[in-house]
Formats: sequence, structure tokens, C-alpha cells
Amino acid sequence: MAEIRNIVILTGAGISAESGIDTFRSAGGLWEQHRVENVATPEGFARDPALVLGFYDMRREALGKVVPNAAHDALARLDAEWKQGDLLIVTQNVDDLHERAGARRVLHMHGELKSALCRSCEMRSPWDAPMSNRPPCPVCQAPMLRPDVVWFGEMPYQMDRIYRALREADLFVSIGTSGAVYPAAGFVRDAREMGVRTLELNLERSEGSHWFDESRQGRAGELVPAWVEEILS
Ligand code: OAD
Repeated sequence: MAEIRNIVILTGAGISAESGIDTFRSAGGLWEQHRVENVATPEGFARDPALVLGFYDMRREALGKVVPNAAHDALARLDAEWKQGDLLIVTQNVDDLHERAGARRVLHMHGELKSALCRSCEMRSPWDAPMSNRPPCPVCQAPMLRPDVVWFGEMPYQMDRIYRALREADLFVSIGTSGAVYPAAGFVRDAREMGVRTLELNLERSEGSHWFDESRQGRAGELVPAWVEEILS
């Protein structure tokens, strides 16, 4: 632990599960309730924008009914107290629970529910209202907003910054993600090849579990506070 200075943390839907947000691939999860190709692809949006806008309106509204859990709180504490090097929380989640717990160094690689992307002027604006009623873009006034969420077939945000952080990292920690979606699923292999120590904290072994130096199984609400305590002490 004494040799660890720079940390990159990847989080996925599993870290928000205990807050009451459905994961994607669990039994009864979001991708059993909705077809990915209909609600999470540019083609699905072109085919049926009302369906897609309604899906993200529902998920944005649901954020008002949940609160951060012990895992988000623990990462916010680590963010505040980690002084011996850099720290970056890369999240695949589009919820705002890391921020609401108080974490500052958070990068949303798959976008955010509380952000709108204008298809006309391409500006991103903070957004906390429905989009199904086709409101105007706050910047250019065109009624062309879409959820600022990365869909399948689109490039995740800030990949350069993520790889820069990984190259500088001493430790890569993956929390609550199934390892099913690239490029995030490949970070563990990339980190290993760069000589970075790797740790997985997940309910079960993920698809890429064998790539990690260490894998701990359990609920994020228990594993993450225990690991944060360990690394800070
Ligand atoms: P998944 O639903 O694929 O995986 C969630 C993981 O969290 C699983 O491995 C679960 O075992 C684990 N898990 C569930 N409850 C947990 C708990 N209480 N504590 C710890 N782990 C728990 O979600 P992601 O890996 O985040 O992308 O999915 C990655 C991407 O696929 C998402 O960002 C989304 C989705 O399609 C896009 O929409 C572009």
C-alpha cells in the first residue's frame, strides 16, 4: 500500500444497486425489461424518438427517489482524503450518486442522465426535466435535444484522459461492473500490461475476473468501505 500513489477506480451499475437502481444484466435488470437496440442505439432513437426520450425521462425522474449508499460515501471519503497522489473515479453510470455523495474527481464515460446534448448545435447543457415534450436547447433554441448518454456504436467520453490516468496509475480498482461492455471491460488488461496493480470488488466474479491480481466478492456497500478504510489507514 505504501507504494500506491495514483489510483484509477472504475465503477458500474453494481455500485448503485443498493441505492435501488436496477443494474443492466441481472435477472429482471434493465436489459430484460427493454431491448438494448431500441433504447440505447442511435438507430433506435431515429426509429422511435418518443420511446427513447420516455425511457431516459423515466430513469432521470427515478434519480429523485434514490440516495447514495455506503459505497458512494466511501469513495467520496477516499476522494477527499487521498493526498499522496492522484485519484480518478471513472464511472460507466449515468446517475449522479457519486457527486451527491460528495466525490469531485468523477468522469462519466457513458454520459449523464442530468445532461442534454443538442443534435443541432452539439452543446451539452445541465438538464433536470423531461425531454419527451421536445423542449428547446438552452443554447440555440432548436427543439433537438437528446439524452447526453453514450449509446452502443458511439464513442465513450474522455478516453484520452482515462488512458493518461491509467498510464500514471499504481492501482486500478473495478467496482460493480460485469466486464461485458468495451472499452471499459478492457481497462483491466490495459492496466496489467502497463504494470498497474489491479483489484476487483464485485458481487460475483465478472467476465474478466481472471485478469485481476485480486478479486473480492460481496456487496459494494460492504466491500468498498472496508477497502477504503484499509487503503487510508
Ligand atoms: P451490469 O448490469 O452489466 O453489471 C453489474 C455488475 O454489478 C454485475 O457483475 C453484478 O454482479 C454486480 N452487482 C450487482 N449488485 C451488486 C452489489 N450490491 N455490489 C457489488 N456488485 C454488484 O452493469 P455495468 O457493468 O455497469 O452502457 O454495465 C456496463 C454498461 O452496460 C453500462 O454502462 C451500460 C450498459 O449497457 C451503456 O448503456 C452504453
